[in-house]
Amino acid sequence: MKNILITGGAGFIGSHVVRRFVNIHPEYNIINLDVLTYAGNLANLKDIEDKPNYTFIKADICDFDTVCQVFGQHAIDGVIHLAAESHVDRSISNPFSFARTNIMGTLSLLQAARQYWADDMNGKMFYHISTDEVYGDLPLSGGYFTEETTYRPHSPYSASKAGSDHFVRAFHTTYGLPIIISNCSNNYGPCQFPEKLIPLFINNICQNKPLPVYGRGENVRDWLYVEDHAAAIDLIFRQGKVGSTYNIGGNNERSNIELVKLLIQIVDRLLGRPEGSSEHLITYVTDRPGHDLRYAIDSSKLRDELGWQATHSFEEGIEKTIRWYLNNPDWMAHVTSGEYLNYYNKQYPGS
Ligand code: NAD
Ligand code: DAU
Repeated sequence: MKNILITGGAGFIGSHVVRRFVNIHPEYNIINLDVLTYAGNLANLKDIEDKPNYTFIKADICDFDTVCQVFGQHAIDGVIHLAAESHVDRSISNPFSFARTNIMGTLSLLQAARQYWADDMNGKMFYHISTDEVYGDLPLSGGYFTEETTYRPHSPYSASKAGSDHFVRAFHTTYGLPIIISNCSNNYGPCQFPEKLIPLFINNICQNKPLPVYGRGENVRDWLYVEDHAAAIDLIFRQGKVGSTYNIGGNNERSNIELVKLLIQIVDRLLGRPEGSSEHLITYVTDRPGHDLRYAIDSSKLRDELGWQATHSFEEGIEKTIRWYLNNPDWMAHVTSGEYLNYYNKQYPGS
């Protein structure tokens, strides 16, 4: 039995990773450590909360003493680190919280792992989940990020993730800590907080609210269904080469305006409105400062070395995602009201 600490497991991607590990890896004890910020929502994990191989701990990754206690009490053998401040717009208005959680929080986990595993690092793993945004951006005319692309972060968010990646690699080089990093493109799917483009716009179309498209909507993102990311994380955690980096992408580039029109078309159809009738909601607004133009990921290393490939086509994934939000209006109402924060903060008082 291996004891795996997953940080940020109550968030969007983390909840899919926790569910996958709890359900398909009974050989692992999963310890989900999350401080439950606005983005952490235990309702995402209702279906697995009573499973015998699952434990939830409400704690802050920046609280080094508590993190050390968790390593000791649960005899942690492996870490999958997802906890982060994740939204670019928030990093522009409050960069401090990004430096704190993403850099200092990662450092706190690294130091705890290093100390706890000091006598024997064999078979241990510190797996850090990062983003393609550390590479900067690409021209519309072409090119891909590879694992060798130079870091060129532009936003406070991506700068903080780049900082954390550098600390993770430094702990490998300096102390021999067994690490892996993966850098992934934009995820979409159920349970994503409606500050990110896809859930925000689905919700706004349903409620006939404006759809604020930044700039002219020509920026391009490479979209990956969240369960395909969780499957990649599972594979890399178990079979990835220590010290390596893997890029993960959906090979599925869309301009924002193209994506927004597709969302409108599908939501209109599913709500029985004339298709495209919600296009009048599109509102071009002032661009995000430092807005990266295009991301595109070359994930051939992951495919060739470990045999990973995405199993959801974009058409399938986006339809599934939209249906999930339309069928779960209570989830949306709950997170937009902030009600869940009060509930869980009462249930798990503390840090
Ligand atoms: P999210 O914002 O939905 O969830 C983050 C989780 O981390 C929340 O549950 C939150 O409560 C928790 N958390 C935040 N600060 C914490 C702290 N100090 N201590 C403990 N827990 C804390 O994020 P997400 O979109 O699921 O992203 C997860 C990870 O994947 C992040 O590291 C992000 O950088 C990375 N990533 C995200 C995407 C994407 O498209 N969403 C793509 C590539 C990489
Ligand atoms: O590439 C991976 C990254 O993808 C992750 O590391 C981040 O955690 C995640 O938030 C995401 O970053 P983006 O900035 O690309 O995602 P977001 O959903 O905020 O925006 C997607 C695109 O849509 C981007 O070009 C900005 C644009 N946008 C976004 C919002 C919220 C709008 O035009 N209007 C909006 O209201």
